Amino acid sequence: MTIPKLLVLGTGGTIAGAARSATGKSYGAGEVAIESILADIAKLGLEVELEPRTIARIGSQDIGWKEWDALHAAIADAQSDDSITGVIVTHGTDTAEETAYLLDLTLAAGKPVVLVGAMRPADAVGADGMRNFANAVRVASDADAGERGVMVVMGDTVFAASDVRKAATSNVDAFRGFPRGPIARVTPSSLDWFAPAHRVNTDARYPWPETLPRVAILTAGAGMDEKPVEALLGIGCKGIVIAGMGQGNAPRTVLGALEAAVQSGVPVVRSARVDEGMVDRNVEVDDDARGFVAARALGPAKARILLMVLIASGITDAASIQAAFDRP
Ligand code: SIN
Repeated sequence: MTIPKLLVLGTGGTIAGAARSATGKSYGAGEVAIESILADIAKLGLEVELEPRTIARIGSQDIGWKEWDALHAAIADAQSDDSITGVIVTHGTDTAEETAYLLDLTLAAGKPVVLVGAMRPADAVGADGMRNFANAVRVASDADAGERGVMVVMGDTVFAASDVRKAATSNVDAFRGFPRGPIARVTPSSLDWFAPAHRVNTDARYPWPETLPRVAILTAGAGMDEKPVEALLGIGCKGIVIAGMGQGNAPRTVLGALEAAVQSGVPVVRSARVDEGMVDRNVEVDDDARGFVAARALGPAKARILLMVLIASGITDAASIQAAFDRP
C-alpha cells in the first residue's frame, strides 16, 4: 500500500497556541511551529507522510491578502504535484470560514484541501487540536474526498466551505453548517460521507485575483441612521454587505443610503445578522427597485468574500452578482 503524502501548510491559530498553563484562560495563537505540531502527530503512528511548510504564525484575525496569496499558490502547486495526495491547512478558527470559502471559490476541485483548527491551545488540558488534526489526515487521505471542494474539519465533523460558520466563541463543538449541515462524520479511523461528491470535475469558479477590493460589512441596528453608509463610501469601499435584521432588513434611512450607493456604482448585498436562514429577494425589501442583491444562504462573512471575488473578476452588475449568490 502506498502511504499518502500530505502537504501541511501552517498559518497559526489556537491549534498552534501556547498557554503555558494547562488550566489558564489566556494564550498566544500561532506560537507553536508547524514542525513541532507534526512531531507530536508523528507519535500517533498514522500511516501518512506529512510535509510541513510555514505560511504564517498568526492569529487568524490577522489573516489577509498576503497569507491568502501564499496559501493559494502553495495549494495550486500541490494540486499539480503527483507525489502529493492532499493538503491540510492549520488555521485559526475565527476566520476559517473566510479562508476556506475564498480558496473554494478560486481552486479547482480534484485533490482534498482541508482546513483544521482547535478551540483549545496545544498545551491546555483537554486540547482538541491533536484529534482534529488526526481527523483531518483521515479526510485528506481519503480517495473520495477530492471532489468536494475545500472542507473544514472540526471536532468529529466535516463541513463544506460554503456551508461552514463558527457558531460559538469557546465551545469545542463550535462549528455549524448551513444550508447543509455536516457533510461527513470522521474519527481518526473512520469516515462516513453523507452524500456523493458535489464538485466533480470542476475547474476553479473564479480566477485568483491580483488583489482584493475593499468591501465592508455593516451591521444594521435599531435606531441607526445613514451616516455609517456614507462613511464607508467616503473611505472608498467598492462594495457593501449589510448584515441586516431578520431577512436582511435595515432602517428606512439606511436602505435609502444603500440605494444611493448602488446608484453610484457600489454593489450592495443584503445578508442577515441572524445566525441562520435564507435571505431572499423582494420579501420586505424591494430589491428589484433598489438594485440590491440578496445573499441567499451566505452569512455576512462569506457574502463579503464572494462579493470581493466577484468585483475583482469584473462582475459588478446586480443581476450577475445575484446569479453568483444564487449558486454559492
Ligand atoms: C484564531 O482564530 O487564530 C484564534 C482562535 C482560534 O483559533 O480558535
